[in-house]
Amino acid sequence: MLWILTALFLAAQAQAAVLVDFQVAQPPIVPHDAKQCTVQILQHDFADFTADVVEFTPPTDCGTPGSWAAITLNFTVTSNGTQFDRLGIFTFQNVEIWRTSTPEPTAGGIIWTYIKDVSRYTPLFAEAGTFILELDNLIETGLNGVYSATLDATFFASSPEHPPAKQANAIIPLSTHSNTTGNDASVPPGFSMNVTLPQNTVEIYAEKIYPSGNSNEEFWYFNIANEFSSEFGITTPQQGPFREVRLLVDGMVAGVAFPYPVIFTGGILPPAWRPITSYGALDLPTYFLDLTPFVPILTDGLPHNFTIDVASAEAGRAISNNWFVSGVLQVVTDPSGKPTTGRIISHNADPFAVASTTGSSDATSVNITVTASRKISITSEIISGSGKKNEVVFTQDLDYINQQNYLDNTLIQNVFQSSSGSILSTHNNVPVVKDTFSFPITINITAFNVQQTNFATTFDHSYNRDLLPSPLILGSTINERQISGGFFQEASTGNTGNGTSNNTFSYVDPAGNTFNRQVNAAFNNITLDIVSGTLSGSQELDFPLGADDVFVLH
Ligand SMILES: *[C@@H]1O[C@H](CO)[C@@H](O)[C@H](O)[C@H]1NC(C)=O
Ligand SMILES: *[C@@H]1O[C@H](CO)[C@@H](O)[C@H](O)[C@H]1NC(C)=O
Ligand SMILES: *[C@@H]1O[C@H](CO)[C@@H](O)[C@H](O)[C@H]1NC(C)=O
Ligand SMILES: *[C@@H]1O[C@H](CO)[C@@H](O)[C@H](O)[C@H]1NC(C)=O
Ligand SMILES: *[C@@H]1O[C@H](CO)[C@@H](O)[C@H](O)[C@H]1NC(C)=O
Ligand SMILES: *[C@@H]1O[C@H](CO)[C@@H](O)[C@H](O)[C@H]1NC(C)=O
Ligand SMILES: *[C@@H]1O[C@H](CO)[C@@H](O)[C@H](O)[C@H]1NC(C)=O
Ligand SMILES: *[C@@H]1O[C@H](CO)[C@@H](O)[C@H](O)[C@H]1NC(C)=O
Ligand SMILES: *[C@@H]1O[C@H](CO)[C@@H](O)[C@H](O)[C@H]1NC(C)=O
Ligand SMILES: *[C@@H]1O[C@H](CO)[C@@H](O)[C@H](O)[C@H]1NC(C)=O
Repeated sequence: MLWILTALFLAAQAQAAVLVDFQVAQPPIVPHDAKQCTVQILQHDFADFTADVVEFTPPTDCGTPGSWAAITLNFTVTSNGTQFDRLGIFTFQNVEIWRTSTPEPTAGGIIWTYIKDVSRYTPLFAEAGTFILELDNLIETGLNGVYSATLDATFFASSPEHPPAKQANAIIPLSTHSNTTGNDASVPPGFSMNVTLPQNTVEIYAEKIYPSGNSNEEFWYFNIANEFSSEFGITTPQQGPFREVRLLVDGMVAGVAFPYPVIFTGGILPPAWRPITSYGALDLPTYFLDLTPFVPILTDGLPHNFTIDVASAEAGRAISNNWFVSGVLQVVTDPSGKPTTGRIISHNADPFAVASTTGSSDATSVNITVTASRKISITSEIISGSGKKNEVVFTQDLDYINQQNYLDNTLIQNVFQSSSGSILSTHNNVPVVKDTFSFPITINITAFNVQQTNFATTFDHSYNRDLLPSPLILGSTINERQISGGFFQEASTGNTGNGTSNNTFSYVDPAGNTFNRQVNAAFNNITLDIVSGTLSGSQELDFPLGADDVFVLH
């Protein structure tokens, strides 16, 4: 009874000019007055399932490799014609450093640029190595859009005013280590690998890179709880709407993420994401955990089993295929070189979230509510080879609710989901990892015909996050809200539709940088764009403006 929620927007009328697509985001924090070295990493037309694999050597004329103040990547892509949104996975030195997706092209062509701060991967860029961009695409009857991509890296020289970016002593990937394709793993089943850490490891910060659901899991927040699946058609995705991404160390839960639902540009109502994509579509969010509490068991010089998996609230915690996951460990070692000792004092973490599913159905409607919650607490005492003692307290307190209403024989399909909570890790009472977040989303779909080929949708989607990823990475507070929607009509002669998108974004960080943007689009046109804050003059902005400039179209 549900339609396929991913669609192509075949522009019925020729678009006059090349459309400039973008995702709302803060510009990267970089020293513009520093010497810059820009190097092309790759240039490639993506038209099939072959990843672009290149050797990359760091520049030497912006200071000693690894001494840079910042590093950014500039991904600029053009495409013309008709094509689905595609996933892009950037891997360097076997670490996934960025996951993106592509805006769907128009007949007149599109172009987009996204500048990504990758300073936290400085140790990887200090050495020559293999860079892989996997952007699987398919050209066939009805699909002619090639993604023509250029990827540049810019290195900002450090100086007394702009010190080198903070960096870990070692970066260890939790990845497939493929040399030919993106290093993400497809789960289920869970992805496990052995990791041997330096014996003088004193701190470990994990970044769970870009978990994203695909095929039957792309719209996981709309998946049906299995006990109600008989009310729906057999092609309706099941396993309920709850997902938690777990990281396990030797089978013990080290921490989890309740992920933010990224909507790709073909999602549900493609015209709503043109030219402003859904938040996160060009730079998928990642999740951070402190694994320092596990240092006492990881510094024995032996391999340990790290696992990333994705669990539902259904029987066996099953999900459908497939989520793409990978991770990275940022490791700090003690200068003494002597092994670290200590003990895990307490480990309170259930294997899975506590969840419940309730609901009811009648002749014309089905309503389902799924809730889940999680409390994790791990405490350890760690003694470095230099004799420094670290009392570590890691806690997570997470909540989740999903309400689905299928009314009027599914002519109306509404979902409200919210995941929220807090993560806090302290070392000797000093916060080192902090994540207070709230990711509410409402999607209301109203169909005008029983075939559900003609419908209207409204979205109200927010990303509110006060994040300190680790002591090595600058924290940030982001409040983002996107209210969007429109109409869509599927037809054998080509789909048509229209959309609007209103966005309110604010960024502030502990270094005093601020950025605010209010930007609205209606029917492919930007109708309002107000930018302010200390970063508003940045050359990395898609519409460069002076500080506190106000730019209003009509
Ligand atoms: C799109 O069309 C323009 C103008 O014809 C052309 O310059 C550009 O190379 C095309 N891009 C792609 C990816 O086909
Ligand atoms: C990638 O290449 C390295 C070096 O040749 C090799 O050790 C490693 O096994 C390869 N990885 C895979 C997954 O084949
Ligand atoms: C990890 O290493 C152990 C032996 O130390 C081996 O039995 C196991 O299969 C390895 N696991 C993985 C996921 O490679
Ligand atoms: C690693 O841990 C996972 C999760 O507990 C488990 O399923 C897997 O069997 C373990 N692998 C090995 C080789 O011990
Ligand atoms: C489902 O909820 C709607 C209100 O959103 C209500 O009108 C309808 O009666 C409910 N159906 C069932 C079976 O509870
Ligand atoms: C979605 O529908 C619900 C129930 O009718 C309504 O309360 C809510 O405001 C709607 N939200 C949006 C974004 O349309
Ligand atoms: C958007 O599409 C709807 C439904 O087809 C139509 O009623 C409306 O006029 C369109 N709006 C614009 C501005 O084209
Ligand atoms: C979006 O903003 C415009 C003003 O730019 C306003 O007219 C419109 O009502 C807003 N739409 C929504 C859904 O809030
Ligand atoms: C978009 O802007 C262009 C140029 O200003 C204008 O010609 C066109 O009518 C606008 N389209 C819509 C749907 O408002
Ligand atoms: C990003 O790269 C494109 C070309 O690939 C270039 O036109 C654009 O100016 C670059 N943007 C920045 C901020 O360097």
